[in-house]
Amino acid sequence: MPEEAKIRKYLKDFSLDKADRPGYFRKTVEDVSASGENRIRVYVNEFWTSRQRQAASIHEISYRACFKPQLPQFFINLLTEPGQVVYDPFSGRGTTAIEAALNNRNFIANDINPLSKILCLPRLTPPSMRNLETRLAAIPFDDSISPEIDLSMFYHPQTEVELLALRSYLLKKKESGKEDYLDRWIRMVATSRLTGHSKGFFSVYTMPPNQAVSAERQRIINMRRKQSPEYRNVKKLIMRKSRQLVRNLTDEQLNYLKNASENALFYEDNAADTYRIKPNSIDLTVTSPPFMDVVQYSDDNWLRLWFNSIDQEKLDNKITVVSRIEEWSLVMNEVLKELYRITRSDGWVAFEVGEVKSGRIKLENEIIPLALKTGFKCFGVLINSQNFTKTSNIWGIKNNCSGTNSNRIVLLKKFTGHSPVII
Ligand SMILES: C[S@@+](CC[C@H](N)C(=O)[O-])C[C@H]1O[C@@H](n2cnc3c(N)ncnc32)[C@H](O)[C@@H]1O
Repeated sequence: MPEEAKIRKYLKDFSLDKADRPGYFRKTVEDVSASGENRIRVYVNEFWTSRQRQAASIHEISYRACFKPQLPQFFINLLTEPGQVVYDPFSGRGTTAIEAALNNRNFIANDINPLSKILCLPRLTPPSMRNLETRLAAIPFDDSISPEIDLSMFYHPQTEVELLALRSYLLKKKESGKEDYLDRWIRMVATSRLTGHSKGFFSVYTMPPNQAVSAERQRIINMRRKQSPEYRNVKKLIMRKSRQLVRNLTDEQLNYLKNASENALFYEDNAADTYRIKPNSIDLTVTSPPFMDVVQYSDDNWLRLWFNSIDQEKLDNKITVVSRIEEWSLVMNEVLKELYRITRSDGWVAFEVGEVKSGRIKLENEIIPLALKTGFKCFGVLINSQNFTKTSNIWGIKNNCSGTNSNRIVLLKKFTGHSPVII
């Protein structure tokens, strides 16, 4: 059976909604279809939740609009073999990359935001807890560093002293070229613990950890909640989170992570211009682009950027944040062309899209015609329905990631044989 037929059968058998849904994409596809075939198949099911095993704890670093590890896992297992190369041009916290590594695949991760590599790379080489404890104990936490900005609305004075000392230590290690895997791990964990809504974070109660509020907003939160920052022990919290991150990793997974770390490539390029990636070198891309201006990746990360001495203004000019659909489509057109260049013949792209502007714009309607023009064939759209009930509207199912109402994946193939536009 040809590969497509096998995968189609798998998805159909698996689908709650056995009938294809002609009509939904009719308008979009008619405009571009050369073959007269005018419908895109849509599959609806709980594809990447209950049928899969629990996600590895090493993923548990929060990031704005991240996807669940089960999503890339689903496509990695369905469409690639061990040793093949998985890519994400908008890598974020590195969910695709880490999941590829855990499944014995190689990966390339790209994100314009340098935080992405800071959060992902260290998790390929988790340290032993004993080595980590020894390293942390050796970091001097003296109070000689004066703050550049007022952080008193977030941190107890002693916590702030500890954080400033840690930041300065990490900066010195990096600048001297002596930063090692333990320092990178500490940086990653500390970055993830800066602010949050429980006692596991360095800050007083605030928004969830992937969404730092401004100093002014935090003052208002403190006033309303009649709260002031309590002391949080930075080293203890780093140890605690580290134990949580490695708690369910098997020896096999640790080996796979280590192997992947030897071949892993991280880039900080614009996803539309990844000139360092060789043509025809990627077996599968699993990605989720910024959905127009739904998420402010730079502002929401301002404290994480500060802690890592990353210039926020420079980053603002590079991150794709657009308010008009026409602008978004222009950027995505370039991204799709680049994906076509680097995908090998018969390779796949799983491109997550969502609804924006209160459901008025469904981004798959933009992506599918662009992808077809680029040369990709469209295999279908997968909709992950988590709470599929009689009353739920399958086109607007809520998921846990902010910024979108539903999890839809446009599945594309660089099919070089003879085939209709829609395969
Ligand atoms: C939806 S998030 C990806 C989240 C990721 N799937 C995860 O699980 O963490 C989109 C990412 O795109 C990045 N980004 C925005 N504009 C970009 C561009 N032009 N090129 C590369 N990355 C970009 C942002 O920094 C953000 O990390």
